[in-house]
Amino acid sequence: MSTVTLQVVRGDQQSGPVRESYDVPYRDGMSLLDAIFWIREHRDPSLSVRYSCRSANACKECSAIVNGKAGYLCTIRAVPEQEFQIEPLKARSWIKDLVTALD
Ligand code: FES
Repeated sequence: MSTVTLQVVRGDQQSGPVRESYDVPYRDGMSLLDAIFWIREHRDPSLSVRYSCRSANACKECSAIVNGKAGYLCTIRAVPEQEFQIEPLKARSWIKDLVTALD
């Protein structure tokens, strides 16, 4: 089975950032947000991410830094056997894991 690896920045202002690695089973058409849902369901339900629409970049709540560039987790496709570095936005106050304040 193919997997995609997510290196996700976890933590909050008190604990500080820690990068955690998750191997997620790949499926066709999977977005990075789908991969995060898989992690929450199968590895750690406490992984925090903000989202509403889950697709099509309509709500813009799933913004994050992916491989060094700002983007929307629901529109960026996972790629099998590839690693993605995912961090919270730096321009907003950090709340927890991938969640930042809505300014
Ligand atoms: S969840 Fe709405 S834009 Fe990604």
